[in-house]
Amino acid sequence: MNQFSLKDRTILITGASSGIGRSCSVECSKSGADLILIARNEEELKKTVSMLAPDTKAETIIADITGIENLEDLIAEKVAVSGKISGFIHCAGIEKTLPLKKHTPQLYTDIFAVNVISGFEIAKILSLKKYKNETSSFVFISSVAGMVGEIGKAAYSASKGAVVSGARSLAMELSRSGIRVNSVSPAMVNTPILEKMFENIGEDAAEEILKKHPLGIGEPEDVANACIFLLSDASKWITGSNLVVDGGYSAH
Ligand SMILES: NC(=O)c1ccc[n+]([C@@H]2O[C@H](COP(=O)([O-])OP(=O)(O)OC[C@H]3O[C@@H](n4cnc5c(N)ncnc54)[C@H](OP(=O)(O)O)[C@@H]3O)[C@@H](O)[C@H]2O)c1
Repeated sequence: MNQFSLKDRTILITGASSGIGRSCSVECSKSGADLILIARNEEELKKTVSMLAPDTKAETIIADITGIENLEDLIAEKVAVSGKISGFIHCAGIEKTLPLKKHTPQLYTDIFAVNVISGFEIAKILSLKKYKNETSSFVFISSVAGMVGEIGKAAYSASKGAVVSGARSLAMELSRSGIRVNSVSPAMVNTPILEKMFENIGEDAAEEILKKHPLGIGEPEDVANACIFLLSDASKWITGSNLVVDGGYSAH
């Protein structure tokens, strides 16, 4: 039996319209999962659906995860079609690199709303018996910025540190409900979020960051594979951990 298989499991993924979330969707489908995918951009989400393995059952929710009033109803509706959930990946995230003097309370609020609060709110819903299978696994995408200091990242780093520590507490609370909870901390991965960041910080700073990755910049699939491991039975004795997937960045 393939311990890494996600066959007969429904996985809910936020941030599925781009980058790491899109790759997680595609790779989970190749591992046999059916999917419920969430993002705001309908066209890009449709593109993700078109990339899934043939015969994958995919439901979509087009929404801003920070402002869904009837989130539980929407999830309930999709679960009625797809079956109960066996896994969740919170990939949706926003990043801003700005000097501290340009950080405002609103910036912290906006970043925390997407990166932290909406992920934990979705986890709250998915931990209810009526929406979950006997066992389930939640994976929160954090970042090495939650562990290692980086200039201009006060709000972003704080949000990613919160993801790791919050996930650890969820792991303690939800183990009795048969739910494992882990985080994944990537360093720089080749996605639109990275392109935007490199535009903001300029060529020299970007070159410096590149040099800090002994194995170079990662590809979205490198992160997706770590998520598949954490969703699958291959990791059935792992909870409360933070899996660093960073090409050696934080080993300096
Ligand atoms: N790329 C990297 O180098 C890197 C490194 C470490 C950690 N990470 C983390 O990995 C995760 C994915 O990053 P990525 O590089 O794949 O970024 P990306 O390509 O910019 O994708 C971000 C995703 O988040 C979704 N999203 C953002 N705000 C949302 C909102 N309010 N409601 C619903 N969906 C929302 C976007 O969908 P819509 O725009 O369609 O809503 C998009 O699908 C993030 O948490 C990021 O912090 C990335």
